Amino acid sequence: MSSRAHIGVGLVSVGWMGRLHSRAYLAAPVHYPDLPATAELVIAADPDAAGRSHAAETLGYRETTADYRDVLSHPAVDVVSICSPNFLHHEIAMAAVAAGKPFWIEKPMGRSVSESSEIARSAEAAGLMTSVGFNYRHAPAVAHARRLVREGALGTITNVRVALLADYSADPEGALTWRFSRDRAGTGVLGDLLSHGADLAQYVVGRIGSVSGLTETFIRTRPLPSGDSTSHFSKGARGGPTGHVENEDYAAVLARFDSGAVGVLESSRVAIGPRAEYRLEVYGTGGSLRWDFQRLNELQLADDTAGYRTIMVGPGHGDFARFQPGAGTSMGFDDLKTIEASLFLRSVVEGRQLAPSAADAWSAAEIVAASLRSAGSGVWTSVPAIEGGTTYDA
Ligand SMILES: NC(=O)c1ccc[n+]([C@@H]2O[C@H](COP(=O)([O-])OP(=O)(O)OC[C@H]3O[C@@H](n4cnc5c(N)ncnc54)[C@H](O)[C@@H]3O)[C@@H](O)[C@H]2O)c1
Repeated sequence: MSSRAHIGVGLVSVGWMGRLHSRAYLAAPVHYPDLPATAELVIAADPDAAGRSHAAETLGYRETTADYRDVLSHPAVDVVSICSPNFLHHEIAMAAVAAGKPFWIEKPMGRSVSESSEIARSAEAAGLMTSVGFNYRHAPAVAHARRLVREGALGTITNVRVALLADYSADPEGALTWRFSRDRAGTGVLGDLLSHGADLAQYVVGRIGSVSGLTETFIRTRPLPSGDSTSHFSKGARGGPTGHVENEDYAAVLARFDSGAVGVLESSRVAIGPRAEYRLEVYGTGGSLRWDFQRLNELQLADDTAGYRTIMVGPGHGDFARFQPGAGTSMGFDDLKTIEASLFLRSVVEGRQLAPSAADAWSAAEIVAASLRSAGSGVWTSVPAIEGGTTYDA
């Protein structure tokens, strides 16, 4: 008989991320036999009937509903995954706090610093464990990079380059979904992608203390969505009515770290060429390293003057051994979410914050907001320090 705790999962929104969270909950206890919990998929909410039927028939949720409040009030739900569009994150997260349910929320957590800070402070005050979808930190190559930086293998860190270049909005026929609305998404590529990069840079190198930002919107009008399409990849009706894009397609941020290192973070959602090129480069007085999500299982390391050598991640790097027995057999995106699910479940059962936290998401939101303010004013802007979180001390 297993002594594992039995955690009932409630899901809000059965889109790309909602389906992925669900698969990750089911996979986590299999990859982590020592995890003190198993997860049961209890109830999923989505106003879209196709999402609800996928939840019941494919993912195996016992119940479905159109109203997320049924998830929060369900007696068998112990934890909640919040995978809705950004404009619902704050409302649902605050309702989860009121219901006393730990939550795993997708990024960007809030549309603004005030939403993000309120969620983080409320969860902290209620003593609730949280998790945020900063999945790239879990790549074994990133875990290894962080260890190398912390052990001083690169000497003193001098500068950092982060580039998150994607093409999901490169097609001008891509529909004007909620992602392009300031009211519903908040920022554009700053919150959607650069927040991942800010988290990665802080996770590996340390706190960013001040920024100078620049933003631009290259595709200023888009066709209105046809039907209920909301995803990153929805197309508009050709020749139909159009509307204005209200947030940025592109952002570049110069950064000063508290350690004295400097850096540049750049992000585009309309780059043609890179598909999902999410790169982290760290340079120091004794060497440098480079990682790209598109080559998830490789770390480029230069610790002498002979240039880069490629380390294929394997057992001994991060959680790789939980997935494959030997280097060269690739892990994938779903595996990063399985690691995130395992950290969240362990956090909830053991009562200690191990997963990327709401405070970490608040910290990233401060960088996004300071970058946007700086882009407007043209002056360097300081980034307020956040108490708590797992970014600097895990
Ligand atoms: N961590 C990552 O790498 C990553 C990747 C993609 C998206 N995201 C984030 O995940 C979130 C969801 O994005 P997605 O790509 O899964 O979107 P999606 O468009 O695939 O899914 C959104 C779902 O929300 C549902 N929905 C709409 N209104 C709702 C309501 N009132 N109540 C409940 N559900 C409702 C839709 O029907 C749809 O099923 C966003 O915040 C996004 O930024 C994170």
